[in-house]
Formats: sequence, C-alpha cells, structure tokens
Amino acid sequence: MAPSTLICDTDSWQNLKTHVAEIKKTHLRDLMNDADRCKSMMVEFDGLLLDYSRQNATLDTTNKLFQLAEAAHLKDKINRMFNGEHINSTENRSVLHVALRAPRDAVINSDGKNVVPDVWQVLDKIRDFSEKVRSGSWVGVTGKPLTNVVAVGIGGSFLGPLFVHTALQTEPEAAECAKGRQLRFLANVDPIDVARNITGLDPETTLGKFVVVSKTFTTAETMLNARTLREWISSALGPAAVAKHMVAVSTNLTLVEKFGIDPKNAFAFWDWVGGRYSVCSAVGVLPLSLQYGFSIVEKFLKGASSIDQHFYSAPFEKNLPVLLGLLSVWNVSFLGHPARVSMESNGKGVSIDGVVLPFEAGEIDFGEPGTNGQHSFYQLIHQGRIIPCDFIGVAKSQQPVYLKGEVVSNHDELMSNFFAQPDALAYGKTQEELQKENVSPHLVPHKTFTGNRPSLSLLLPSLTAYNVGQLLAIYEHRIAVEGFVWGINSFDQWGVELGKSLATQVRKQLHASRTNGEAIKGFNFSTT
Ligand code: F6P
Repeated sequence: MAPSTLICDTDSWQNLKTHVAEIKKTHLRDLMNDADRCKSMMVEFDGLLLDYSRQNATLDTTNKLFQLAEAAHLKDKINRMFNGEHINSTENRSVLHVALRAPRDAVINSDGKNVVPDVWQVLDKIRDFSEKVRSGSWVGVTGKPLTNVVAVGIGGSFLGPLFVHTALQTEPEAAECAKGRQLRFLANVDPIDVARNITGLDPETTLGKFVVVSKTFTTAETMLNARTLREWISSALGPAAVAKHMVAVSTNLTLVEKFGIDPKNAFAFWDWVGGRYSVCSAVGVLPLSLQYGFSIVEKFLKGASSIDQHFYSAPFEKNLPVLLGLLSVWNVSFLGHPARVSMESNGKGVSIDGVVLPFEAGEIDFGEPGTNGQHSFYQLIHQGRIIPCDFIGVAKSQQPVYLKGEVVSNHDELMSNFFAQPDALAYGKTQEELQKENVSPHLVPHKTFTGNRPSLSLLLPSLTAYNVGQLLAIYEHRIAVEGFVWGINSFDQWGVELGKSLATQVRKQLHASRTNGEAIKGFNFSTT
C-alpha cells in the first residue's frame, strides 16, 4: 500500500465489504452450534481467556481480517512503535509507553538513546520516596506522618490512576498495604469537587500530601486546582509547608520549579508518553505507590509488560490485542456498529497522511461494572441498536464469600450474569419459544428478541495488581491496532486541543471583563 493510499482502497478491505452480505445471512444461534468454530475462537494467554465466538464472524471473516492487517502493514507498525520510531508523526514523537514497564535490562531506543535506564531512575526514586513517606521517615511540616494523598490531575493524568486504584482497593494484599491511608483524586475544576476532596482532611492534623500530576504543567483546570490547594496548605501551615506537602509529576520540570515545588520532589516522564497512555509512568506509579507501596505497583507494571511482550511477538491468530483490535474494525467499519459497551484517541476524521476518511475510525465506548448496566441501558442493547459488548469477568473474587447457606454466592450471582448475558444477546428469543411458554399473544412481540448481537468475553483468573496491568495493556494495544489498520494517528488529540484553546479565549475575556470591566468582544451573540 502506497503511503497515502487509504486502507479502504485495498482489495482486503473490499473483500471484507463483500463478505458482509455473507455474514448477514448467518445468526449467532447457528454459529454457536459449530463447536470447532467456537473452539478456534478462544485464546488463552498467561492466565487470561478471550472468547470471541459470539462475534458476528466466521473463520473466513477472521482470515479476511488477517489479510486486512497485512495490507495495513500491522506487524511493521507494531515493530516501529516498539523500535521508538516517530509514529506520532503530527507531534514528531515516539510512542513508547511500553518502555515504562520494560524490565530493567531491556533496551528500547528513542532518538538513538536507550530510555529504559531513565525509566528505572524515576521508578527507583518513587520507590525510595514512597517508602520514606509510608514508613513515616518523611513527615509533614508539623512533624506528623503523611497518610493522605490527593492526586490533582485531569484526563490521562487522572483516569488511568483512578482505574487502577478502583481495582486495587478491594484486592486483599493491596488493601492490607493501604491500611490507614487515603488516596483521593481531584480532576474537575468545579469548586464543589475541590470542597469534596479536602473535606475531612485537616492540613494541621491529618495532613494531606498533594501530588500535582500534569504532563505539560499548563492544563488550566489542574493548575487552578493546584494553586487552590497550595493556598489552602500555606494559609494553614505557612508557605514553608508547600515544599513538604506538595510534589509533582510532569515532563516540564522548569514549570514545576516556578510553581514552588522543590525539583527534588518532582518525578519526571517524557514526551514519548502520550497523556492517555501515561498511567504506567510516575503519573500512576507515584500516587499508587504512596497508597499501596511500590512492590504492589511493580506487579501491575509486570502484568502490563507481559502483555507488551505478547503483543510484540505472538502470531496474530493468538494475539489478544490484535484480535480485539481487528474485531473492533470489523464491527465499526464493516458491520456499522458505532458504539461498544466497555480508551481512546482514535475517532479521527483524516488518515495519518491528512486524507479525509470515507469511513468511521473510532467507536463510542461506555459501560458499567457488575450488573448495573443490565438494570439501566441493557434494554437498548437487547432490543434496540446493535452495540457490540465486551464482558470482562474475574474467575475468583477479590473478596471472600460471606453467605454460606445461599443457593448462590454474590460472586456466583455476578458470574451467572457474565455467562448469561452474552448468550441472551447472541440467541435472543423467538416467537416459537414464547408460544411454547404460553406467553399471551399480545405480549409476544414485546418479548421477542432477534438475538444475533455480538459480544466477546474476557475472563481473568483474579483481579490482582498483575492482572490489572494485563487488562490495561490489552486495551491500550487494542486502540493502537485499530488505529494502525485504519491508518490514523492514535496518539495525538487535536480535537481535544480545540476545546482547550477556545476556553483560553473565553477565560481571557472573562478576566478582562471582571477586572477592568472590559466589554466582551469577538464572540458570537450566544457566547457574548
Ligand atoms: O485533554 C487531553 C489531555 O491533553 C490528555 O492527553 C492529558 O492526559 C490531559 O489533557 C491532561 O494534560 P496534562 O497531563 O498535561 O495536564
């Protein structure tokens, strides 16, 4: 494929387009009867099981998708990412979040320099610092231990760490390590959120440690929240408290110092880490190590690294992120399913060469934990629009089963739904079945389900820090696979930047109007 040829102009794409008509003639009820097909649509790796037999796909589909991957030079693009080439061409950067969790002796080059020693220098600094804080040898300005952490950051400087924290807080080993400690996140700039986050934290007694997490150290919301907290702490404990109570994670150490944070208390990362892919950098590792201890977080990094190696070396037929990515392309670009119940920077309008795309390149992701979704939006996915679902289950609960005499434990109840929902979506319910059940004729249309709705199931053995790392890396790499096949840049986000720059113009005028009474100008009538 010539560099500016769109993937949709290749024979492989056209073959898949034609193939859609074949697939439309099938129903998952019948496809699921073919045990050989189902067996070949299950892949195991390092304790994880992916079952994609409930996709509207046959073995012919997956073969055609592998041909599409070849036409898109997927293997070459994965290698270029791991080799540190500037595949984020619009920002002229490498994309090396895989280096953040690489073993100490690995060699991963960006611009001719092995970045792994730099990564480990910061990891060692975090290990050292978090151990000092946790052991009480690093104390606050009044000599009390720092048990509470508020991580201030937004977007990728918030969501990834929050995801890992959510998973770890009930994991027994991690929970034990977190005893007596609190980790909170402040992202939104709404004063209500600021109040919620400092409620119960007394700077004079309990003491709070603030970690300002910002790749650029310029993000308006984060910097405003950071200034608010700096004021809160220095007005309670005096300006000298800032150095003891505030630390920073950023790629911009000059701005960190200007803000008043001691550079010794700054934890670096690098421009080859995209914001949305930064949880394995100090962005996530620092707050999570303060809460759980570095050794727990190291397990999370090892889980992610295991998937990185798998993604890099496994053949496509057995490669979890590749399979997930290709199936997403199939659902979005061929079957026309625009959403998925289940990370991002796809959703581009142009190819990496700037050519307008005549197809959709990104899906709308949403989801819910447990059966909450079932009691809210599942009606739509069962009878309304077709929305491919990812069901992520855990074989062994993090928590003990309390009710011994019950027919099912809480975990069994949860897993019953994990297994039942994919079949309900795949098989549906026919009029004949309803008639056999003596359903009143007037209710038959309401209780009929067409089925044939695709899903895939990912079963984890347990939800340890290691498995959470695996899960994260699978989903990160799935996004890259989709982007590599669609021929877009999955690592920049100009759409997000547009919103930021428009808010900057509004902010300037708000300020001028408040301080000097200047008239608002240059906006449309509505904004003015
Ligand atoms: O708004 C998108 C984004 O640029 C993300 O990539 C990033 O994670 C987030 O904003 C916050 O940016 P920063 O870490 O520079 O404060």
